[in-house]
Amino acid sequence: MNNEELASTRRSWDVATRNHNAHKGDQAAFFRGGGDTLFPEELELLGDLAGRHVLHAQCNAGQDSLSLARRGAHVTGVDFSGEAVSFARKLAVDAGIPAVFEEAELLEWLERTPARFDVAFSSYGAVGWLPDLGRWARGLCRVLRPGGELWTVWNSSLGYRPALQRLVGPTRQVARNAKFTVTVSTRR
Ligand SMILES: C[S@@+](CC[C@H](N)C(=O)[O-])C[C@H]1O[C@@H](n2cnc3c(N)ncnc32)[C@H](O)[C@@H]1O
Repeated sequence: MNNEELASTRRSWDVATRNHNAHKGDQAAFFRGGGDTLFPEELELLGDLAGRHVLHAQCNAGQDSLSLARRGAHVTGVDFSGEAVSFARKLAVDAGIPAVFEEAELLEWLERTPARFDVAFSSYGAVGWLPDLGRWARGLCRVLRPGGELWTVWNSSLGYRPALQRLVGPTRQVARNAKFTVTVSTRR
C-alpha cells in the first residue's frame, strides 16, 4: 500500500466515522449513564484492568477505548482518522472518562513511540486495513512490556489463529462462538 492508498483509506474512514456517529444519538450521555460498548466475549477476556496500561490499536471513535478506560485502565487509542480521533477526544471529555487519543498511522507510531503497555487490544475490522501484518506484529511486540499481552478479537469464527501465531508466537484462544474469536498472546 503506497502513501496515496493510505491517504485514500484514511479519507474513507473520516467519512465513514462521521456517518456512523451521525445516527447514534447522545453517546456522552450513554457513557455518563454507565453505558458500555464491549461484548461478553471481550469482557471474558478483560479480567481486572485497574491500573493497567492499555493500547487500543485502530480505536476509531473511541467508544471501546472509553469502555476499557472506565474499568480503571490507562488507555491510549491510536487511529489515523482525524475525524475519529477528534470525536474520541471530545467524547472522553463529555463523558468524563479520561483517555489519551493519538492521531497517527499505526505502523509508524508503533515504531517510534516511547510508550510501553501491559495490554495491546485490537478488535473488529481493524487489521484488514493494514499494509503489513509482520510490521504490525513486530511493532506491538516492541511496545508491550515483558509479560504484556496482545488481545485480538476477530469478527469471524474462522481460523486466524495460525496466522497470528506465525506473527507473534504462541497464542491462547479465550473464547470462540459463531461471531467472534478472541485470542491472547503473551510477550515472553
Ligand atoms: C473497523 S474500524 C476499527 C473499530 C475498532 N475495532 C473499535 O474498537 O471501534 C478500523 C479503524 O482502523 C483505522 N485505520 C485503518 N488503517 C489504519 C492505519 N494504517 N493506521 C491507523 N489507523 C488505521 C481506521 O481509521 C478505522 O478507524
